[in-house]
Amino acid sequence: MQSKILQKIKQLKDSRRAVILAHNYQPGEIQDLADFCGDSLGLSIKAAETDAEVIVFCGVRFMAETAAILSPQKTVLLPDRFADCTLADMITAEQLRQLKKKHPDALVVCYVNSPVEVKAESDYCCTSANAVELVRTLPAKPIIFVPDQHLGRFVAEQTKRDLILWPGYCASHIVITEDDIKTAKAKYPGAVVMAHPECTEPVKELSDQILSTGQMLKFVSGSTAESFIVATEIGMIHALKKQNPNAEFIPASDKAICPNMKRITLDKVIASLQDMQYKVAVPEDMAARAKRALDRMVEVLPK
Ligand code: 13P
Repeated sequence: MQSKILQKIKQLKDSRRAVILAHNYQPGEIQDLADFCGDSLGLSIKAAETDAEVIVFCGVRFMAETAAILSPQKTVLLPDRFADCTLADMITAEQLRQLKKKHPDALVVCYVNSPVEVKAESDYCCTSANAVELVRTLPAKPIIFVPDQHLGRFVAEQTKRDLILWPGYCASHIVITEDDIKTAKAKYPGAVVMAHPECTEPVKELSDQILSTGQMLKFVSGSTAESFIVATEIGMIHALKKQNPNAEFIPASDKAICPNMKRITLDKVIASLQDMQYKVAVPEDMAARAKRALDRMVEVLPK
């Protein structure tokens, strides 16, 4: 049954000259069928580079919007039209404009998990993989950082810069508690703890490595450790296991599930290619303003 579905997706993909991109938090079967799997930065770079005519984006809306802005001549499809990111929706363009009025000299850095209108109001965009490097390149001016407060605190600490933060958060990351990490460490004393920067500060303090999802994959492939406690969305366990079948990966919390990432299914990928749905388009003037900030993001590669 599964192989028939996969065959059908392959046929449709070829006939549409489509590429399937998937984020590391996608359900395992979606990661397995994708042409490329990665973190937000890697996916943005792939979306900009591919010569496919259609991009089926298995992720959440801001990722598909980013692809549409970076590749305006391509058709970008989001297989589920309700796959939004609750963190991205924690700030509006009007709220950012008000904050900018309060800090008229500040530069604005927005996390890629943000609506396109917010990107259009920002000077720079970043992902969790390059936020630290990007802020390090900025001149000595006040910096507004939106919308994720936890990534913002991590960047402030690493760069020794004072950031003006917005109180946004990722619901799937803040459910991971200090106790979860302590319990996992007690059970697996030799394991290396990797946490995503969207985790809370007490969780990050107890962790050995603070990494984006792409950086986790890179770190594990270069590590001699045999077991890892993973403090991020549980889809990451599939990506890590696939790349490192002999290592052991322990989710810090089974509750760290992003319901929006899990909206994408094989059937929805088929429907997406069959009916060319759901097209993600960004109005041209808005896209041009957001693109400035996104281009700067793609240029800064993580160290
Ligand atoms: P990464 O860029 O690390 O993959 O993170 C994306 C994300 O949405 C985290 O919640």
